[in-house]
Amino acid sequence: MATETNPPKRVTTRTLQKMRDRGEAITMLTAYDFPTAKLLDEAGIDMLLVGDSLAMVVQGHDTTLPVTMDQMIYHAEMVGRAAQRAMVVVDLPFPEGQIEITRSIEASARVLKETRCHAVKLEGGAEQAGRIEAIVTAGVPVMAHVGLRPQNIHVDGGYRLQRDTEKLVNDAKAAESAGAFAVLIECVPASVATAITEAVKVPTIGIGAGRDVSGQVLVTHDIVGLTSGYTPKFTRQFADLGRGLKDAADGYREQVRSGGFPSDQESF
Ligand code: KIV
Repeated sequence: MATETNPPKRVTTRTLQKMRDRGEAITMLTAYDFPTAKLLDEAGIDMLLVGDSLAMVVQGHDTTLPVTMDQMIYHAEMVGRAAQRAMVVVDLPFPEGQIEITRSIEASARVLKETRCHAVKLEGGAEQAGRIEAIVTAGVPVMAHVGLRPQNIHVDGGYRLQRDTEKLVNDAKAAESAGAFAVLIECVPASVATAITEAVKVPTIGIGAGRDVSGQVLVTHDIVGLTSGYTPKFTRQFADLGRGLKDAADGYREQVRSGGFPSDQESF
């Protein structure tokens, strides 16, 4: 059992592989800051993702493209400090996973050196095999991201369901052969995710990919009601912290205006 002096056993690539082999569902959520990461870690979420989605849900951009490597490192440091048990994966932001391989290795190494996080994620499959192999050879675990690739939005002409089973299975197998410890599958029909999961031995983590995968990942802001505007069909809201935050702000404003806050007990 974990106590303050006896921290919980860290989830590693080996833990995830064992969970997948035993058929135990893996849980993953995004985290971008210390308090959120601490709560998700305490809730027993197996993997935290410092996703480049932070460009959209935290920074307010309309794509994931603007977030920089320095900004990813800044957020990864906070999450890395908070997570006692979860394995923390950090996205290589655009274009760190698309340019010269040496730059991808340097960016990946920064994650391990500067943030206490444990792995990187990069978008792509077969065409990224050489890069994945080089990063893993340098000592950084890599999660591959196949299916819908948000960093490719302008090439694909929007966020679209990816249906090409043969290509996607090939992508996942190439990533696995190159040394990826897991494959994230985004926005594909459930039957495609099933085919990928049957074709590889490493864990598959789905988002908008149905149930037949080794685990699920969602954007935390979506599941707690903190995302404004469009939310995709594949997410589910499990709490309404947005409402709670507005209620708290309303209560505070009223109390300050009416002179009810601070009370004598809240003053020195
Ligand atoms: O950046 C992100 O949040 C992602 C999602 C697929 C979870 O990559």
